[in-house]
Amino acid sequence: MQYLPIFTKLDDRPVLIVGGGDVALRKCQAFLKARAQVAVVAPSFCDELLALSQQNKVSLIEEYFEAHHVLGMMLIIAATDSEAVNKAVCDAANTHNIFVNVVDDQPKCGFIFPSIVDRDPITIAISSAGTAPVLARRLREKLEAIIPHHTGALARLAGNFREQVKARFKTFADRRQFWERVFDSSVVRKVQVGDTQGAEQQLHDLLTNTPQPEGEVYIVGAGPGDPELLTIKALQLMQQADVVVYDYLVSDEIMELVRRDADLVCVGKRAGNHSVKQEDTNEMLLNFAKQGKKVCRIKGGDPFIYGRGGEEIQVLAKHGVKYQIVPGITAAAGCSAYAGIPLTHRDHAQAIQFVTGHCKKEGQELDWRGLAHTNQTLAIYMGVIKSPHIQAKLLEHGRSPETPIAIVENGTRKSQRVVRGTLSELATKIEQHQIQSPALLIIGEVAALHEQLAWFGQSEQVNSFAQPITKVA
Ligand SMILES: C[S@@+](CC[C@H](N)C(=O)[O-])C[C@H]1O[C@@H](n2cnc3c(N)ncnc32)[C@H](O)[C@@H]1O
Repeated sequence: MQYLPIFTKLDDRPVLIVGGGDVALRKCQAFLKARAQVAVVAPSFCDELLALSQQNKVSLIEEYFEAHHVLGMMLIIAATDSEAVNKAVCDAANTHNIFVNVVDDQPKCGFIFPSIVDRDPITIAISSAGTAPVLARRLREKLEAIIPHHTGALARLAGNFREQVKARFKTFADRRQFWERVFDSSVVRKVQVGDTQGAEQQLHDLLTNTPQPEGEVYIVGAGPGDPELLTIKALQLMQQADVVVYDYLVSDEIMELVRRDADLVCVGKRAGNHSVKQEDTNEMLLNFAKQGKKVCRIKGGDPFIYGRGGEEIQVLAKHGVKYQIVPGITAAAGCSAYAGIPLTHRDHAQAIQFVTGHCKKEGQELDWRGLAHTNQTLAIYMGVIKSPHIQAKLLEHGRSPETPIAIVENGTRKSQRVVRGTLSELATKIEQHQIQSPALLIIGEVAALHEQLAWFGQSEQVNSFAQPITKVA
């Protein structure tokens, strides 16, 4: 990070602008908005600066810049059209360790002015550190469009109640939950339509009649890894949680999006290596919820597809704990899309079966006869370790050795790899390419479409997050 984003309080603090023209005027107006004590040094001034001086809003020093002008200042702006003067200002400021901004000369700037979305008192600052101002401007435009104008009024209302809320709720967690409830309530709508009195009354009612915070568990599917595949609801609940319980399938990029101050608990599971037993995870969810916490149980893919979501909600339901389920994009859908393999295709596959290579009970066998049928696609989860067995059983039950297969490792992630071959080569390919978990096996004629479709049109989609797909023949 080249610049640390901080918001400074300039109330009555001395700041200096060197230069008397339009640019200096604009900077002066920005400082006055923050109620700074502004001094401007220049041999002459534009009319607007003279007018501000007559209204006692700024002090004008009608002199050529000299190093002593910087003394006692908190921030300094060099806004002249002389490179030599700007450099002298910059040197003097640096000598005294005062932050300086040299207009249109980013390398000399100790601080910069970001683009701003202003919903006072909510202020959003955006900066590209001088690298891509147009991109920063476009982001600002997007934010301007999505952040409602009543956001400032809502923040002011909340500010008016802050002390009362502090007195009512002793812990930070309780206060946060209260505010979450307020911002989910019709107080927001009332502020939006300008019914300030109604909003105040309702907020007051919520404050006096707040029930004990009730715990809840959100069972959230996070998709296969690309954070852009998260649903809006998943993101919202990840942001509301007091505790986030996650496992190894949830990518680092997705974990970056959970609430910063939420407690994180890893119950990492890898095939054959359960670091926390499922029963202990169930117990943990139950206990957190009983403490009144909002718990986000975040899982890779979809919670109900080989995700143990069903087992977890059975326990929650049994104990009367509230829960919500947020579906996610399952690995079969994500990996096949990002590998350019349509799971069904009128010419090749009329059915798709989701299969696990890892059965709960040892010795429990799959319906290999049904799985070996042609004209269908198999999406095999957790199949890497058992691939020799899967290959042997499908061949034994009549699936052609020439059936195309694809192995998608780290599907939808930056490190996605796609290995192609035939059913007779499945286990060898996995060994040869040292395929690591998570990997999905796709078996069926559609796998051969990868060569035809993976590059065409796909690169653009993947580029929004991942590097171009690594293809391994
Ligand atoms: C315990 S299952 C969880 C499946 C998950 N609930 C879903 O709907 O995708 C784990 C298996 O899903 C598959 N998987 C999950 N994410 C994957 C990814 N990004 N790339 C490839 N396979 C993935 C792998 O087969 C992995 O062993």
